[in-house]
Amino acid sequence: MAGLPYIVGNWKMNGTRAMLNEVRAIDRAAARFPKVQVAVAPPATLIYRTRDAAEIIGVGGQDCHPLENGAFTGDISAPMLKDAGADFTIVGHSERRSIHGESDADVKAKAEAAFAAGLAVILCVGETEAERDAGNAETVVSGQLDGSCPLAEGAVEKLSVAYEPVWAIGTGRVPSTDDVKAMHAAIRAKLVAIYGEAGAGVRILYGGSVKADNAAELLSVPEVGGALVGGASLTAESFLGIVGAA
Ligand code: G3P
Repeated sequence: MAGLPYIVGNWKMNGTRAMLNEVRAIDRAAARFPKVQVAVAPPATLIYRTRDAAEIIGVGGQDCHPLENGAFTGDISAPMLKDAGADFTIVGHSERRSIHGESDADVKAKAEAAFAAGLAVILCVGETEAERDAGNAETVVSGQLDGSCPLAEGAVEKLSVAYEPVWAIGTGRVPSTDDVKAMHAAIRAKLVAIYGEAGAGVRILYGGSVKADNAAELLSVPEVGGALVGGASLTAESFLGIVGAA
């Protein structure tokens, strides 16, 4: 497993300019944690200002369109994210998959567009509660990886995968460490099957109700290389609690 622990805040549809105070506080504190890689994915409206307000932390988008430009009202392309100062983008978040009906093929096209634009990618996968209850969690996640992992030359080097069980997002519920361990091992095996040796270097993050008080335990699970954090990333205080735990 490669690199420093990677702690990423996904602000979703939250944040106006007032949030830049949180960005500055996170950025200042990140200097005290040189062994943790810290990043935030603000709403697109704040990417440029966030990049401007921060010196150390990474800045990313939450989604991108698979094409570079065109008649797609309301959409934002990967080159636009890059131009605004983003280093990476999230793709395939379950809220995009379920609310916007994105398929694995859509997610793969977005991931490949992001790489083409020079962005790193955090590719999200995860099962619903019904799928887990039916004993299908690993099959579902494995299928998502088969369908959505980018295969463009060099893509694997800039890829992280985030395992986010849908039923753990925003609910305060987290899987047992045994379940996280089993799923992350299965994801690792699948990444090696897809990419060969290079798949062993892809960072696998856990996401879903990560808080300061459960972060250390989750991050100590084998193959958990970081966390993708929603609600608890919206204030510097709660987010830095997680960064400190890493
Ligand atoms: O992408 C992060 C996310 O979906 C988890 O959200 O609020 O459960 O930490 P939350």
